Amino acid sequence: MTDTIEGLPVDPALVAEAAALAEGEAAARHAELAARIVEANEAYYADAPILEDAEWDQLFRRLVALETAFPELATPDSPTRGVGAKPTTTFDEVRHRRPMLSLANAFSHDELRAFDGRVRRGLDMPAPPEPAPDLRYVAELKIDGLAVTLRYERGRFVQGATRGDGLTGEDVTANLRTIATVPERLTEPVSLDARGEVYMPKAEFARINTEREEQGLPLYANPRNSGAGSLRQKDPAVTAARQLATWSYQLIEDEAAGTPQLASQSAALERLETLGFTVNPNRASGLDIDDVIEFTDAWRERRHELPYETDGVVVKVDRFDQQDRLGMVSRAPRWAIAYKYPPEQVETVVEDIVPYVGRIGTLTPVAYLRPTKVAGSTVARATLHNLDEIRRKDIRVGDHVILQKAGDVIPEVVRSLPDKRTGDERTWDMPAACPVCGTAIVRDEGAVRHYCPNPACPARVSQEFGTFVGGMDIEGAGWKTLEQLLQTGLVKRRGDFFRLSVEDLEGLDRFARKSAENLHANIRKARRRPLERLIASLGIPQVGWTTSIELAHWLAAEVPQREDWLVRAAATLRDVAASQPDRFEEIEGVGPTVAAALAAWFAPGGAGEGVLEDLADAGVEVELPAPRAPAGDGPLAGKTVVVTGSIEGYSREAAEAAVRSAGAKPAGSVSKKTDYVVAGPGAGSKLAKAQELGVPVIDGGDFERLISGELS
Ligand code: IVH
Repeated sequence: MTDTIEGLPVDPALVAEAAALAEGEAAARHAELAARIVEANEAYYADAPILEDAEWDQLFRRLVALETAFPELATPDSPTRGVGAKPTTTFDEVRHRRPMLSLANAFSHDELRAFDGRVRRGLDMPAPPEPAPDLRYVAELKIDGLAVTLRYERGRFVQGATRGDGLTGEDVTANLRTIATVPERLTEPVSLDARGEVYMPKAEFARINTEREEQGLPLYANPRNSGAGSLRQKDPAVTAARQLATWSYQLIEDEAAGTPQLASQSAALERLETLGFTVNPNRASGLDIDDVIEFTDAWRERRHELPYETDGVVVKVDRFDQQDRLGMVSRAPRWAIAYKYPPEQVETVVEDIVPYVGRIGTLTPVAYLRPTKVAGSTVARATLHNLDEIRRKDIRVGDHVILQKAGDVIPEVVRSLPDKRTGDERTWDMPAACPVCGTAIVRDEGAVRHYCPNPACPARVSQEFGTFVGGMDIEGAGWKTLEQLLQTGLVKRRGDFFRLSVEDLEGLDRFARKSAENLHANIRKARRRPLERLIASLGIPQVGWTTSIELAHWLAAEVPQREDWLVRAAATLRDVAASQPDRFEEIEGVGPTVAAALAAWFAPGGAGEGVLEDLADAGVEVELPAPRAPAGDGPLAGKTVVVTGSIEGYSREAAEAAVRSAGAKPAGSVSKKTDYVVAGPGAGSKLAKAQELGVPVIDGGDFERLISGELS
């Protein structure tokens, strides 16, 4: 499939398709793809991926193809700039001048005392409990963020990197420059490396998650992940929009005449401050191990009041000459240790378990807890995930349970305390009927999930509308607005959004004339969106972004008349769903499962019945994707090939890509129009169908000969 220019995967078929676009359209599509990839990368770094790898690859390839056809679109801020194929390799490497070490951990006071014992032995000092007056420790809060090293030359910030594997990190200079606490210039023209932690304040973490929730995006798990995600952005503007900050804790000054020789960590911290770095004030020096233990105890609870996350205390031998004598073992210094607070656990009571109904009807049991303070905030609810989980942990309504915050952020019910039962507890079961609409709840054979099958269930509907509003990019319509619109009955169907007047909106809580006008204008703007966006916003089960793009192409080809296009498209989808559901497998990448989901959604009586007609009636129009260039040159130009079973050395996707680059069209189902069926081990009904129809069957082992043209 791929040539490689400058290390990027270039798909000739996609390039041809891109080249057929008008300039303005190419630019618009580029902006949309780039935004989508940036968003996906961000989510990926934050451990909350929103795209499958294969989907990401596809989008990325399309972007590369657009930039190949329209080189002026390859601006420096494009996600393709300086990139390998994966977001993990998007930064230049920086070799650290000195390795960035990690620390050994201690989880108890005893382990801290054992550390003190080792340090004393290493320094030929008397074992505890003898005093060791020449040995003093510094205690610093351990900041839960991302370690970085900042390089300054003659007082100017020149380069910043992440820790990476300790020897080589990633060059994130541009992003670090956007952080207010990274000084651009020091107070003295010195050359040095300053190391510290980049972190996201708790309030910023909360703000971003609220915003993401409003937009229906997956939430970041904790401030560390979202901080790391925000720093490792290809576009510094994204980093700049996040309120990141730093605490510096290590100074490595270049040796130069006139530079004062620092004798200790406590002196280094002070010098860092003098030079203009932010150094955490919550530290103590001149400590013996008892003082250290006291320090850890003092911060155990208080740390939750800080505006940033700390997960422990770093204890360091203060004097540098002693540090040098102690040296290191396996890339961790012998002179320091990280004391980690255990996740705080508290006891509470499960007062109730309530099932919540999600967008596709899934019932998620949520524990209502006696409100309890844990790790700095009051927790009153925690998800119990599903019924199997409740059974496994044997959690009953009325139970005393142990609650903790996983990663100190997400509340989790760890276990029940059966010894505390009085006999009044009751085991919980999924309701037989949906708590919202009363429809009988279903659990599919062998599945963990229970769900409400009623597509009109109000709980499902409000989630569904959320997906729609987010998908169609109706700016300024958050959950609160949406709920009001549904409750007041102003919005009953998706099309109703586009029927709202300024006055309707002005009547909502928290809306004034101006905000109503703004939202109204945003809704008008959303009336015309690319077809694939409209499809993705429908929330059809199994249909993600990639399938939406492919369905859009298929549908655009299927419905050639442009007049009243959306209405015609709706009729086509309904007919195919009702009488030829297998035809959905003609859509690239769509197999039987997705085809069945599409058929179920678009069929008469399905969740999608009347949806597109209603949107068309409300004035919604779509931008159709440009027709794909006919299969280009290649040994199999113009042919249709079905690949079934497993082909050695190829994933399904790679095999289809190879078919495409040979000029043929890969198809999902066998028909009289199929030119070849490639059947590897495991081929089933498609092989049978080919034999039945007399379509030539190529053995999987001959796949490469087929695509190189040797067989045709
Ligand atoms: S000193 C050799 N001080 O914790 C010295 N590290 O678990 C190495 N960290 O990789 C680091 N706060 O990312 C040090 N006050 C502090 C710290 C700190 C957080 C991080 C740092 C390190 C990790 C080790």
